[in-house]
Amino acid sequence: MKFFIDTANLAQIKEAAELGILDGCTTNPSLMAKEGITGDKNVWNHYKKICEIVDGDVSAEVISTDYKGMIEEGKKLAKLHKNIVVKVPMIKDGIRAIKYFTDNGIKTNCTLVFSPGQAILAAKAGATYLSPFVGRLDDINLDGMELIHQIRHIYDNYQFETQILAASVRSSLHIVKCAEAGADVVTCPLSSIMGLFTHPLTDKGLAQFLADHAKANQK
Ligand code: E4P
Repeated sequence: MKFFIDTANLAQIKEAAELGILDGCTTNPSLMAKEGITGDKNVWNHYKKICEIVDGDVSAEVISTDYKGMIEEGKKLAKLHKNIVVKVPMIKDGIRAIKYFTDNGIKTNCTLVFSPGQAILAAKAGATYLSPFVGRLDDINLDGMELIHQIRHIYDNYQFETQILAASVRSSLHIVKCAEAGADVVTCPLSSIMGLFTHPLTDKGLAQFLADHAKANQK
C-alpha cells in the first residue's frame, strides 16, 4: 500500500518525506487556502515546492468545472513538474477531461467520489487514481469503509487498473481498515501516519530494555 500525505503544509510534507516511507502527496483547494496560498502563480509555485520534496505523485486540483477549462488548466498543471497528477472532480465534464488526459499521457486523480457507480465511470475513463472520501461518508452516518470494499471488489472483477486512493482519512485506524479493504493508496494527515507508531507496550518494552542494559553495565 502506498502512503500519500494529505496536506499543502511544506513542513509536514518534509517531516513525512524524512521518514522514508512517503510515496506521494494530495492537495485540494481548501488545503491550499488553509496555508494562505492564493493567486495562480503562488499556487503553481507551491506545487513546484511540494514536488521538490516528494519523490512521487503530487495531486494538483483544477478549479475549472467545464471541459475546456479543465483541459487548459490541467495541461498547465501537468507542465509544472513530472510528479504532477491532475486532480479532476467527479462530474460529467470531469470524466470527459479524464478520458482526454488519459489519451494524452497525463496522469489523473478523480476526486469527490462517494459511490461505486462513480468509481466505475472513473475507471472506464482510465483515471490513474480514484479518491473515495471515507471520512465524509462517515460524517453523514454512512459506511465510508464499505465503499472501499465495494470498489475493490468491482475493480478486481474487471481488472480495472485505476488505483483506489482512499481519501478523507481521519485516523490511524482508518489507515489500517483501508489496508484490510485493499486500497492501493491511502492519503492522510501527518498525525494519522504518526499515530501508527504508537503502542504502549512498545514504549514499556523499550524502557525496560534500556533499564536492564544500564543496570547490567553499571560500573
Ligand atoms: C484528498 O484528496 C481529499 O481532498 C481529502 O482527503 C479530503 O479530506 P477531508 O474530508 O478531511 O477534507
